[in-house]
Amino acid sequence: MNRKLIIITALLVAIPFYAQADAVSELEAKYQTQGAGSFSATAGEAMWNKTFVDAKTGKERNCATCHTTDLTKQGKHARTGKVIEPMAPSVNLKRFTKVKKIKKWFVRNCKWTLGRECTAQEKGDFLAFIKNL
Ligand code: HEC
Repeated sequence: MNRKLIIITALLVAIPFYAQADAVSELEAKYQTQGAGSFSATAGEAMWNKTFVDAKTGKERNCATCHTTDLTKQGKHARTGKVIEPMAPSVNLKRFTKVKKIKKWFVRNCKWTLGRECTAQEKGDFLAFIKNL
């Protein structure tokens, strides 16, 4: 391979990782302006597995209900049964590349799971937990 080709190949391989780092750091910075402190992967993991009881149905739910506890594996939607691709960026390069998508699903999934929106701190902790998986 000549040098140009090597450089181009290296860039193409690196682009998806940059997209991830960009979207995540943009959101982390935003959450910090909204009053969050430093983020903790341990807190994010604990919150991921914490169980909440739905006020209407009395059923237990947590993030793992649809995404499972092994984030490198496929999940399954609790209501529709639809397959959800793995959350871990190491096995799914499309994860956490789009700020809009991350925001949308944080709103929807926090409301469904916790019965309220997540705080800036909680969202940052989730990202700290998932981004290095
Ligand atoms: C009822 C099922 C369900 C539950 C429970 C759930 N999710 Fe999700 N989640 C989905 C679906 C469906 C998608 C969108 C499809 C996809 O991206 O594969 C998604 C996508 C996401 C994304 C977008 C990731 C990206 O690619 O940018 C984030 C972040 C997320 N979920 C976080 C959470 C967190 C945090 C919890 C717990 C508070 C949670 N989810 C609980 C179903 C669920």
